[in-house]
Amino acid sequence: MKNYKRYLITSALPYANGPVHIGHLAGVYIPSDIYTRYLREKGVEVLSVCGSDEHGVPITIKARQENTTPQAIVDKYNAIIKDSFEKFGIKFDIYSRTTSKVHYETASEFFRTLYDKGVFIEKTTEQYYDEEVKQFLADRYITGTCPHCGNDRAYGDQCEKCGTSLNATDLINPKSMLSGSKPVLKETKHWFLPLDKFQPDLEKWILQDHKEWKANVYGQCKSWLDQGLQPRAVSRDLNWGVPVPVEGAEGKVLYVWFDAPIGYISATKELTPDWEKFWKSDDTRMIHFIGKDNIVFHCIVFPAMLKAEGSYILPDNVPANEFLNLEGDKISTSRNWAVWLHEYLQEFPGKQDVLRYVLTANMPETKDNDFTWKDFQTRNNSELVAILGNFVNRAMVLTQKYFDSKIPQAGALTAFDSETIAEIPRIKQAIEANLEEFKFREALKEAMNLARLGNKYLADTEPWKVVKTDPARVATILNISMQITANLAILLEPFLPFSAEKIRRMINFSDSQWEHAGSVALLAPGHGLNAPELLFDKIEDDVIALQLQKLEATKLANANSQPVQVEPQRASVSYDDFSRMDIRIGKVLEAERVPKTQKLLKLKVDTGIDTRTLVSGIAEHFTPDQVVGRQVAILVNLEPRSIKGIESHGMILMAEDADGKLKFVQPSEGVANGSTVK
Ligand code: MF3
Ligand code: ZN
Repeated sequence: MKNYKRYLITSALPYANGPVHIGHLAGVYIPSDIYTRYLREKGVEVLSVCGSDEHGVPITIKARQENTTPQAIVDKYNAIIKDSFEKFGIKFDIYSRTTSKVHYETASEFFRTLYDKGVFIEKTTEQYYDEEVKQFLADRYITGTCPHCGNDRAYGDQCEKCGTSLNATDLINPKSMLSGSKPVLKETKHWFLPLDKFQPDLEKWILQDHKEWKANVYGQCKSWLDQGLQPRAVSRDLNWGVPVPVEGAEGKVLYVWFDAPIGYISATKELTPDWEKFWKSDDTRMIHFIGKDNIVFHCIVFPAMLKAEGSYILPDNVPANEFLNLEGDKISTSRNWAVWLHEYLQEFPGKQDVLRYVLTANMPETKDNDFTWKDFQTRNNSELVAILGNFVNRAMVLTQKYFDSKIPQAGALTAFDSETIAEIPRIKQAIEANLEEFKFREALKEAMNLARLGNKYLADTEPWKVVKTDPARVATILNISMQITANLAILLEPFLPFSAEKIRRMINFSDSQWEHAGSVALLAPGHGLNAPELLFDKIEDDVIALQLQKLEATKLANANSQPVQVEPQRASVSYDDFSRMDIRIGKVLEAERVPKTQKLLKLKVDTGIDTRTLVSGIAEHFTPDQVVGRQVAILVNLEPRSIKGIESHGMILMAEDADGKLKFVQPSEGVANGSTVK
């Protein structure tokens, strides 16, 4: 890696249309905070910028639902988010917002520069328009069926199920979110960023020069590039956002994904007059922390914008995480299936580090992961309390008892002492190596190994027994134990800042310089300690039961409420049309996953007519085992299609609920294979 002089850390700007939940924390904000705290301890020049993303259609939709203005919505959630980040110890140098004056100026100017350079393609295209409410329907104002995966709740800009980014006109059966009516196409002018022109540059920059990026990030970029980049509209017909700063653009604003990443620049500007040093010099290392749904915007669209502008640096790395689930289900703001940070802070006062610990230990770094309250309890009780808390407490209490809370002088070291001491710099190095590679789970594990080491050292040396016969030996043991404690104060700071601070207070030690860790001379003999305090306490079953009850209540409420969206009835068909479809009951004989795909199963089915192969997009819902032996409904005369090189002869019919969960359509009793469905 180049020799960089300073760091600029950005964390995805959360949408101000709801509070922050554990998924956001584990995906973006805890990793960025750990990394930034580590850099600060190393004494590196670093800025960490973030803020609320306050534009975009979801915010205007939320405002409509709550019968208020977008401004009121963003004011409300910006305040909640900012406050909860602060209380949770996510320490940004600035937490700004994209409705700030500086941001409006910066974003307009950015657009204007590209416009003046002739970067954009100006194009009049047909966009969906709702004739009932007389409004163009940008992005999420349109829903319909995804042409790629068949999800019938895809949005005009993206299908959340298969992750494909869409244009509204790609959707099958489009529907207006505002009136529910079928929208019509109407001409409107927009500005497009010709991503295709940046393709060669981006290919070189990512695929050749950044092979070190995390596999999930690199892979997603490669697949985008392999598909071939297309021009993307960067303006919208909407009355909430940064106005398009050119003549003849009344009623048009910048697309939220154009203005939001510029928010990183505006936030830096707001923070320091020296902002250009961070954005415009090659010796700054910029790192974007994001979740996986943001990859294309941070690795392709924003870099293309920055390149087009010409005076900015590009990110050196974009360590995106995958998603965190909650108790086995996808976290969802609209279904209230989440652990909300502001609620956690109220319900678990003083326990910020417990959640930080659990979310780091389960961080979805390479694949989606699950948060469960049971695991939260176990990790608190058997790791934080039993290992870390226990060690620090024993070292403190014994030093208080035998040496009046003063660091004793160490005498001659045994071989075991030396072995133990030698582990400290090794652990420090392991933490560093993992952090440099954004492997936060491993880094935390290593940091905890230092507490494990301390625990084992005390258990093996048994100072409480030795004290009767050899007090001098106990002085050495407790000196070493307290040096380990001081090392913990430095090395745990990025992960558990509240506990590290508490340790520093107890041991009367203000040092948090990373380079000092590894030493066993952090606390001089005679140095006075303060009174021991407990770092963690046990979390009882009833506390966990309460949280689970809360989630049960959410489930119940969701089940009782009307399904969020029922697909409206489609246009009539004639009986003839219907009877042309040949639907049979058949049996699945064999099933296997289609390699290198997430969703596809290759099935061999007995249709009664024949035995044939078909490919079905159900692999995320059923394992091959769960499918084999079942009777299913099959559309047998669907034109054969080649899917991933496999000829598929028909389609299994599935029932899909409002959450997108799939269930088989099965006869109520077994029937002969080949029976017709009519
Ligand atoms: N608000 C977006 C999200 O939550 C992230 C925006 S990141 C930025 O997915 F770069 F655009 F700011
Ligand atoms: Zn899809």
